[in-house]
Amino acid sequence: MPMKVLFVASEAHPLAKTGGLGDVAGSLPLALRAQGVDARLILPAYPSAKAGLLGLAEIARIGVHGSVGTTRILEGRLPDSDMPVYLVDAPHYFNRPGGPYSHPQGYDWPDNAQRFGLFARVAVEVAQDRIGQDWRADVVHANDWQTGLVPALLSLEASRPATVFTVHNLAYMGLFGWEAFQTLGLPDDFWSVDHLEFWATMSFLKGGLVYSDWLTTVSPTYAWEIRTPAFGYGLEGLLNHRADRLVGILNGVDYAVWDPAVDTLLPARYSADDLSGKAECKRALQRHFNLAENPDVPLLGSVGRMVEQKGGDLIAEVLPQLLHHDFQAVILGSGEPGLQDTLRQLAVQYPSRIAVQIGYDERLAHLIEAGSDMFLMPSRFEPCGLNQIYSLRYGTLPIVHRTGGLADTVVDASRARINDGTANGFQFSPATSTALHASIERALAMYAQPEVWRETLMRRAMSADFSWEHSAEQYIDLYRQALGNL
Ligand code: ADP
Ligand code: GLC
Repeated sequence: MPMKVLFVASEAHPLAKTGGLGDVAGSLPLALRAQGVDARLILPAYPSAKAGLLGLAEIARIGVHGSVGTTRILEGRLPDSDMPVYLVDAPHYFNRPGGPYSHPQGYDWPDNAQRFGLFARVAVEVAQDRIGQDWRADVVHANDWQTGLVPALLSLEASRPATVFTVHNLAYMGLFGWEAFQTLGLPDDFWSVDHLEFWATMSFLKGGLVYSDWLTTVSPTYAWEIRTPAFGYGLEGLLNHRADRLVGILNGVDYAVWDPAVDTLLPARYSADDLSGKAECKRALQRHFNLAENPDVPLLGSVGRMVEQKGGDLIAEVLPQLLHHDFQAVILGSGEPGLQDTLRQLAVQYPSRIAVQIGYDERLAHLIEAGSDMFLMPSRFEPCGLNQIYSLRYGTLPIVHRTGGLADTVVDASRARINDGTANGFQFSPATSTALHASIERALAMYAQPEVWRETLMRRAMSADFSWEHSAEQYIDLYRQALGNL
């Protein structure tokens, strides 16, 4: 009998995505299936999720604590896949415009505790097969704060699946007040420091950290960083207490989506042996942003959420200091209004050098990966980071702060690493504008030596293989261990 795994997530590409969690939840369950696991995905029935599935049909109606009106469970399939995807169709909570967590104007939905509380309760009903599908999960794999109540609720069951909880980002703790706690129908003793309470609020994330059989995070370096005060936000004590059940498993990449040899979102495709398509992508990118169509000028790209974590403020500080060099920079992202304005201002001030687009644009994200020469990721912390891994495959050398998954995937172009042929990008530390500045200077100097840049660094970067296979094997080993511990 194949192992049955219910993968619980609040977003999954291509049904709903705000960041890397969507990429992971959209590809890891498929990689598990490729290795013989009966993995199934459960998501809230956002309008985009309903629209993206084929053969969607109601399989059950249920009433759980927190239901408002009818809650239905739908089942459908992704195009090109045989994986069952369950949607929790609670229209009162999920049939809304805007993002999975936020109003179209950007603020968090005020009832997120109730929304993801309900989602967790329904996921438990599905995992325990109380919906009569003759499919009971052996393992429930939950992800980030939105699903933290799943292991907590399962801990109340007499017999339950093994639980694995993955931290994609410890900074988002799912904090809610006492009033919200009272609406969720949880046992009273959950409001205490050994359970969900965190400094007089409730943390959904703690539900995952306290109650899961095993904890994972998305890179080995981040797995130990979060056990220190600098990255643990007050949860380092709990994480150290659970250290024997905490492992780092690096994310994989779906190379059917993120590989310039097959990427259908690009104007031209290319590979390490024929880079003419990359030159065409660069031209298209420059044209998109009204920059001079110069094939030789180094082009720096950046894509990402404009929040403190990602260090966009460092980019804004450094670019004007580098203008004596010949370069162009293109930036795509959205997030904090102040940072968006600062970056927009830069583009207004230096229109021939710096271009900025505020918003979420998947096609442009691919074009920036392909058309740029260097990719900036000065994240203050980065649990894994996918964009730098994509950049490697696109031959766009990443410039990264040495932290988390960035430290685990990028090898700095020091003289020694160039000579032994392992260098694939540039690292700097600490996360300051001075250190970022110095690393961009190093990269620009190296770019001026095309034989090293192309034949050593780009070739090495493009041949790196972060496909899911290896990471999926590690998850399967962990599931087995979790089942053994039950
Ligand atoms: P995080 O999950 O912290 O945002 P990752 O590097 O793991 O960071 O993943 C980010 C993902 O979201 C990538 O697939 C990236 O291309 C995508 N992304 C982020 N911002 C945008 C944007 N403004 N437009 C399109 N895609 C974006
Ligand atoms: C989070 C992290 C990012 C990681 C992604 C997928 O959003 O910020 O580093 O790559 O999750 O695990």
